[in-house]
Amino acid sequence: MSAERADVQQIKDRIDIVAVISRYVTLTKAGSNYKGRCPFHKDDTPSFSVSPEKGLWHCFGCGAGGDVIGFVMKIENISFVEAAERLATEAGLSFTSHKGDDSRDELYEISIAVSRWYADNLANSVAGRRGREYLIKRGYPEETWERFGLGYALPGWDHLRKRFSAKYGIKPLIDLGLLVRKDEGTTYDRFRDRVIFPILDLSGRPIAFGGRSFDGQPKYLNSPKTVLFDKGNHLYGLSWARESMQKEQSAVLVEGYTDVISLHVAGITNAVGSMGTSLTQGQAHLLSRFVKEVVISYDRDTAGGIASLRGMQILRNHGLSVRVVRLPEGDDPDSLVRREGAERMHQLIDAAAPFHVFYIESLKERHNMSTIGGKEAVLEEARPFFQGIRSLPLRQEITTRLAELLDLPFEGLMRELARGGSQRRREADIEEEEERHWDPQRIILSLLLRGEVSWERVAALVSADDFAPRYRPIVERVSQTRGQVDVSSMTTFLDEDSAREVSYLTLSEPLWSDVEKALQDALDRLVELPEIEKKLRDLRGKMEDAERSGDRRHLDELQRAYSALVAQRLSRRKRDGKKQATGQR
Ligand code: CTP
Ligand code: MN
Repeated sequence: MSAERADVQQIKDRIDIVAVISRYVTLTKAGSNYKGRCPFHKDDTPSFSVSPEKGLWHCFGCGAGGDVIGFVMKIENISFVEAAERLATEAGLSFTSHKGDDSRDELYEISIAVSRWYADNLANSVAGRRGREYLIKRGYPEETWERFGLGYALPGWDHLRKRFSAKYGIKPLIDLGLLVRKDEGTTYDRFRDRVIFPILDLSGRPIAFGGRSFDGQPKYLNSPKTVLFDKGNHLYGLSWARESMQKEQSAVLVEGYTDVISLHVAGITNAVGSMGTSLTQGQAHLLSRFVKEVVISYDRDTAGGIASLRGMQILRNHGLSVRVVRLPEGDDPDSLVRREGAERMHQLIDAAAPFHVFYIESLKERHNMSTIGGKEAVLEEARPFFQGIRSLPLRQEITTRLAELLDLPFEGLMRELARGGSQRRREADIEEEEERHWDPQRIILSLLLRGEVSWERVAALVSADDFAPRYRPIVERVSQTRGQVDVSSMTTFLDEDSAREVSYLTLSEPLWSDVEKALQDALDRLVELPEIEKKLRDLRGKMEDAERSGDRRHLDELQRAYSALVAQRLSRRKRDGKKQATGQR
């Protein structure tokens, strides 16, 4: 794959990103960039930006972004390889002729063979007994294994290599993520002693695998991004659900492999899995091709979380109506349907609340409505959400519900919710966007990507582990480059979410006027705030002990220390806020 990826860089160097995007979007020049209306959401203002110099595009309305290949993939809804091939042809390069289709066909062939081998291991091997017993105990009999192609990966480090490398060679097995390269020349099997869930493409070909451990960590291990597979552009179970989704114009969206399987077994055949909680633009686009409505059925804790609310907004931005199932505490669709049966699940799906009702419920759960601060927080959070809604009757209904919730008069509330509306971007996730924008991790990344500071300077104070997992692929890429960071070639190696992050951090308006100050400040915050949080946690533990043992004097002392730290944290945050507010334009 690395050879092909290098060719991809050549394609990107040759292709004029502005010319390609201009076929779909009217672009006008603005400084060194181009602006236009985003083709991926209903865009009244030109929020879509293209930088020929950096080879990136980004929409500051819906958050989509990436490089030229990502754009073609998204707008034509085709795979990475297909997009690369098209652009190569245009550029007069031969991405297809020597590699391309042949090697791709072989990758499919290998995936199919490996999938069969895993299935055979499950059904027949001696070691496979562990998998068989596990599945039976979970209530999946043999016909389920066959129907969903389930398998088992043998324990040991090299069964797969021994079985397949003679015929296909090592390279395609690495490209498919089935073998992991250790160091110079050696490899090991990615999946070992796990039950295997093959992930199929739209036409039912296996393109990737998820493996569940019996007790070890992580619980699920998935294929990485490959030429055939990118998690953000696939849904688990889509090939089985497609027909029934189209017939019903509705999909039930769940998180996990087992949720999909159990629902299909129970006759709910329009269920597909997002394979984890953060729904991507690509998945929303895929859903919008087949249905008008998505019924979200995540477990209770997940559904109310910020990541999933964001996912629901993404779905709405793709023109889908969204409803949310309320599962009993502690259940996922798999556990519910197996305990209480298909009929119960059907009832819950029918009773699923429209998104806005669910959203208001979630506000109620997340904020304390008996305090002024709690009410203010609800208003703040609800404002961009409200402004994202055009329908007047729906605006009325939301205001009525909020007025009741906040115990405020309808008229005043309506005005308050609409305040500043025309100036603001409408999407509800804008608040979160902004919050993330202030995040020191993003400031540092943004400085690095713009070439304002070198990785060496940053690395002297923080390590890749100081960054949240979602930024790590980017940090890793940055840390590998010597000298100038090349954002355009970086995106070739990144998944969709990371590429979008890169285009955002590179093309958005810088939030600082003074690079040195911004860097220093972000580094301080990245290191200092977590330290304060940790001290606070320790103190809370000690306070509980003191309370239990009735040591009032000690408790008072601890309380004072605690308050001091809280004040320190607050002033830290305020100081940052002020500095940035004034530092910006
Ligand atoms: N997932 C993942 N990697 C993890 C955990 C979860 O990819 N480390 C994805 C898998 O697609 C998984 C889904 O997120 O199916 C939901 O995770 P979870 O609720 O933890 O698992 P279940 O599907 O409920 O699995 P099980 O019932 O086997 O415990
Ligand atoms: Mn489960």
